[in-house]
Amino acid sequence: MATKIYPDSGVELSPFISKNYDKVMNIGSMGLYKRFIKGAIADMNIQPSDSIIDMGCGTGRNASLMTSYLNEKGEIIGLDISPEMEQQFNSKFKLDARVSFKNKRIDQALELNQMFDKIFISFVIHGFPNEVRSAVIDNAINHLKPGGAFYILDFAEFDMAKMPFHHRAIFKAVECKYAFDYIKRDWKDILRSSGFVAFEEHFYMNKYVRLLKAIKKE
Ligand SMILES: C[S@@+](CC[C@H](N)C(=O)[O-])C[C@H]1O[C@@H](n2cnc3c(N)ncnc32)[C@H](O)[C@@H]1O
Repeated sequence: MATKIYPDSGVELSPFISKNYDKVMNIGSMGLYKRFIKGAIADMNIQPSDSIIDMGCGTGRNASLMTSYLNEKGEIIGLDISPEMEQQFNSKFKLDARVSFKNKRIDQALELNQMFDKIFISFVIHGFPNEVRSAVIDNAINHLKPGGAFYILDFAEFDMAKMPFHHRAIFKAVECKYAFDYIKRDWKDILRSSGFVAFEEHFYMNKYVRLLKAIKKE
């Protein structure tokens, strides 16, 4: 990525981190990430013919786990802006016509001319300033079929002051300032005011991480 639009963002990654993203996650989590992400994707209850958007899809690691639940009618579109992520994503799926990549920003109005069963966003929305997070949510609601599900896999809501010292020190060292704001907000309330209902939550990693499912009203 040449220039960051949001200077304090930790999700607009450098070319080096983008190229090595999966390795960084595996090493940084001391091997825990692999099991965690497999469990979180399993908790999405993907149906065989689901059509899915993965917003800020990265290397395609998550999409790859999702494909194991799909039949030949299923479909995944990954959206990202990083050329290094695009290259890794496309090389994973060159033999799988169900999965495609589009170079599109998710923090600006999107038009994909298609409605989807599920929209997934994993560790991206916390890294935007709060003023633009509503654009991401609007893009999700505008591309979901009625009754479709929006899944946010990201930090849960928690109080940094109540974290054990060593957890707080790690979180402060690795996360960007937008994340410190993200964890303070009531995301069910925010999604409810955008037209989502029927929330479900799954927690991981000492309850610091949550998969939040929200249904678009019928
Ligand atoms: C922390 S990584 C997460 C990648 C992937 N979702 C995962 O869980 O492995 C953040 C991703 O968001 C992408 N990204 C950042 N800003 C974006 C934007 N405005 N629109 C689309 N993708 C964006 C980055 O290029 C990167 O691939």
